[in-house]
Amino acid sequence: MKLFLVASLAICLLAKSSYQAEDFRKACHGKFEAGPNICDKFNFISSQEAVKKGCVTPTNGTTFYDLSELPPVDAIDPHTAIMASLITNVFEDGDANFAFASCNDINDLRGYTSGYAGFTTGTGDSETLIESYTLQDPNNTLAPFLEAIHQISALPHCDRKNRGNTSSLKGFCEAWKEEACDPSHAFSKLQRDWVYENYMIPSARYAAQSGVHSPLGQAIFYDTIIQHGFQYVEPDINIVRVLTLTGPKGTDEPEDSFLKRFLTTRRELQCCYPDDVWPASATRSEDFLALLNDFEYNKDLDVPIKLKNFERTITGNEDSVTDAKRCL
Ligand SMILES: *[C@@H]1O[C@H](CO)[C@@H](O)[C@H](O)[C@H]1NC(C)=O
Ligand SMILES: *[C@@H]1O[C@H](CO)[C@@H](O)[C@H](O)[C@H]1NC(C)=O
Ligand SMILES: *[C@@H]1O[C@H](CO)[C@@H](O)[C@H](O)[C@H]1NC(C)=O
Repeated sequence: MKLFLVASLAICLLAKSSYQAEDFRKACHGKFEAGPNICDKFNFISSQEAVKKGCVTPTNGTTFYDLSELPPVDAIDPHTAIMASLITNVFEDGDANFAFASCNDINDLRGYTSGYAGFTTGTGDSETLIESYTLQDPNNTLAPFLEAIHQISALPHCDRKNRGNTSSLKGFCEAWKEEACDPSHAFSKLQRDWVYENYMIPSARYAAQSGVHSPLGQAIFYDTIIQHGFQYVEPDINIVRVLTLTGPKGTDEPEDSFLKRFLTTRRELQCCYPDDVWPASATRSEDFLALLNDFEYNKDLDVPIKLKNFERTITGNEDSVTDAKRCL
């Protein structure tokens, strides 16, 4: 996960080559200016220390929280699911296109980051995805990489330098693209299904726990879990931290009022995080906050959804099957 790094990195490179530097902290001014009054509660020291502190060795074979106490959610309305995915695509990749075929080493010590949700070879999620794909289609071009990926996964969890090393994966990105662009769409569908089960349903369960049931509210929780995760090995930045610092929804508190408080905490976290990437991403919280200003109009996601900072409008009729940008 954490694909937004790709987009931000690309923006950084572009900006460096153009005359007018864009303000990467543009959603971090006014009351979101990083300072002790909003940042002390996060206890961020430096990004390096935060990374070190964030690396907790898993004890039970999973890096994810146990969700068994959260309310069950069996399914998400298909229109909500597609709208939420499209909105997050815009935030992660600059437009609604599903980046099924993307693949890069973005030097974040997670190995190759690929696919529309940023599966990574260094953290085990690419591994489980390719394993399921290989069960489905044993003769796929990614299957030969499984052995090297298993070796990476056997390294100590906190050995990020070696987990991020892609030298044993030559040709991985070409193979990924070949499968993601296959006209059968089997691999891209698997990516969608995997994200639905492993991120979208859990995000809706966290939302339900907070009394959030509207499609817009579910989209906000989905985007938060995609960016921040729900892994206890990254306790400083995950969705549980945002929820804890926000406090529960009051008994009579309207949903939009709770969502505003939640997004305010999230935006403070983004603005306070001690690197150049997260503060740039505060624009996504700002766009959601703007949608909440007309909650009645936007809450069902059945109107065109305007994302101001990204200059995109989502309708739900976008292509969600092919990666039109990369599969030419
Ligand atoms: C695994 O253990 C951690 C740490 O004790 C805990 O926070 C987490 O909820 C557990 N996850 C599962 C899926 O049991
Ligand atoms: C496996 O895939 C290759 C390349 O796509 C193809 O040439 C070969 O016939 C396939 N083999 C089987 C058993 O499907
Ligand atoms: C990655 O691994 C290869 C092979 O083990 C090694 O030669 C190379 O120095 C490593 N790269 C880094 C940056 O550690």
